[in-house]
Amino acid sequence: MEQKISEIIQRTTLRINAINSVKELNDLKVEVLGKSGELTLILRGLKDVNAQDRPIVGKIVNDARVELENAIEAKLGVLERKELNDKLMKEKIDITIDRKRPIGKLHPLNEIKRKAIDFFVCMGFIVTDSPEIETTYYNFDMLNIPPDHPAREPQDTFFVTDEIILRTQTSAGQIRTMEKIKPPIKMISPGRVFRSDEADATHTPCFHQMEGLVVDKGITMCDLKGTLSSFAKHFFAADTKIRFRPSHFPFTEPSVEVDVSCVHCGGKGCNVCKGTGWIEILGAGMVNRKVLSGCGIDPDIYTGFAFGVGLDRITAIIHGINDARVPFEGDIRFLKQF
Ligand code: DAH
Repeated sequence: MEQKISEIIQRTTLRINAINSVKELNDLKVEVLGKSGELTLILRGLKDVNAQDRPIVGKIVNDARVELENAIEAKLGVLERKELNDKLMKEKIDITIDRKRPIGKLHPLNEIKRKAIDFFVCMGFIVTDSPEIETTYYNFDMLNIPPDHPAREPQDTFFVTDEIILRTQTSAGQIRTMEKIKPPIKMISPGRVFRSDEADATHTPCFHQMEGLVVDKGITMCDLKGTLSSFAKHFFAADTKIRFRPSHFPFTEPSVEVDVSCVHCGGKGCNVCKGTGWIEILGAGMVNRKVLSGCGIDPDIYTGFAFGVGLDRITAIIHGINDARVPFEGDIRFLKQF
């Protein structure tokens, strides 16, 4: 009996040493120490051993059981640590992966906006900001836009309350500037504007403008034309021409619509300029006397010019974008082209 037990211990110890997984070890434990395990059966057979030898044999079997249980327990600890380690090794996070992150770049619209700002800052203009949520007072009243003007209709303007709106034009910034700064004034004010338009290929409910304002003694339409002509040459091509067409804006008098010679065909006529050779890029004019005096500036002493450029439009012209909605969609396939 003793020999049989020591043989079981030896054999089982060899198997324990060779085992490599928690599952195999548990199976072995059942096989040897479980209900119908080898050692358990011997223990059960004790009743057949004579009463005299029974305590001695019983002790040998129990010692063997304790020895094997301890060996299995020890091995279990080793295997569990190993399995945990393996799992951690597999799951470890490689923090150096960051190096492979693609480098982003400016949205084409922001690139154009910065190029425009750079130009005017070099010409001595300051850059101002004004609220996107604006009052009808700044967006309309002070710009000489009468109460019955169609721009004030809800189908054109997003109303927050009767007197608070999402600004429809950066022109509101002219008033805020003239209230704060006295002439000479040379400022630009780029930003988002909003109109309750259904989005389609030529309209988006949010778009971007850049306002310009110059007020000083002796400012004339020549200054306006010279400034815009330099701007167009800087932006498009050195040989770009501009032309003024008469127009109407309540806050400028006289008012003009400004076209540039087509950057794609040089003025010969193509599908970008719809065969005319010209592309409209902005509205401008001499600041209305009423607007100046509303801001406490004497129109008999000072004159000024103002303009409002559609930045989305310029971006579209330069990059040949033919759907106004696309730059707002953040589609990486579109953005990657620039
Ligand atoms: N605010 C006008 C618009 O949104 C554009 C504009 C026209 C701005 C003439 C001006 C200007 O400053 O003088 O259509």
